[in-house]
Amino acid sequence: MIETTDLVKIYGDGGSQHFQALYGVSLRVEAGEFAAIMGPSGCGKSTLLNILGLMDQPTSGTYSLGGERVDGLSDRERTLLRRHRLGFVFQSFNLLPRMTALQNVCLPMSYAGLGGTERRARGADLLRRVGLGDKVTRTPLELSGGERQRVGIARALANRPSVLLADEPTGNLDSRTAVEILELLGELHGSGMTLILVTHDRGVAERADRILHVKDGRIVEDERLRGNGKR
Ligand SMILES: Nc1ncnc2c1ncn2[C@@H]1O[C@H](COP(=O)(O)OP(=O)(O)OP(=O)(O)O)[C@@H](O)[C@H]1O
Ligand SMILES: [Mg+2]
Repeated sequence: MIETTDLVKIYGDGGSQHFQALYGVSLRVEAGEFAAIMGPSGCGKSTLLNILGLMDQPTSGTYSLGGERVDGLSDRERTLLRRHRLGFVFQSFNLLPRMTALQNVCLPMSYAGLGGTERRARGADLLRRVGLGDKVTRTPLELSGGERQRVGIARALANRPSVLLADEPTGNLDSRTAVEILELLGELHGSGMTLILVTHDRGVAERADRILHVKDGRIVEDERLRGNGKR
């Protein structure tokens, strides 16, 4: 599903401000696999996830998504591919505060050109699936942290992505709520979703099939906990 070779990321223009965040990252994540990327603050986890999520481009190295090379795409091509193939879950939820839960979930579908009726039906269905069927008209301020993250997850699923990417999705939640969100992500994985989750928390990472340990911009260990993603 995802394969990279020798990804390098250098921030800045190569002058005195430049900073190398990734030093040759090669990895493979199979369809249906749940991989955690774990490591200390500043080691390059978000940098790697942003590249895998087509939010950013590597300085060098190759990236194939679903068997197709995507490292040389234009910004526009990357945006389109991202919109249709990938779903993102953010630590700070990134919901639009003036919109209802349903409107937040429907937004990516409108970018993808889906009609209003279909959007609302699919949005309501997704909110039911994450346990918020009775709160579709609430705005983020009227929801708890865990509920906001459920909306974030429903929104990430809006365009039926093949891969879900999550950067510290439980980082702003108390531990009980975090467990609920991790269980929801586990259910999605159980239904066949490929999942890549970034965390600095061993307990969170242990929910994955596999932990990729990152240190100073490199994968220093590929720890398999269970399965290989194929059912
Ligand atoms: N836009 C940028 N310009 C310059 N340096 C950057 C930029 N973004 C990140 N960095 C640097 O790259 C390194 C890796 O950052 P990254 O955000 O990937 O770390 P992280 O592992 O996600 O950390 P955290 O756990 O704190 O989120 C850090 O040293 C950071 O300061
Ligand atoms: Mg980060």
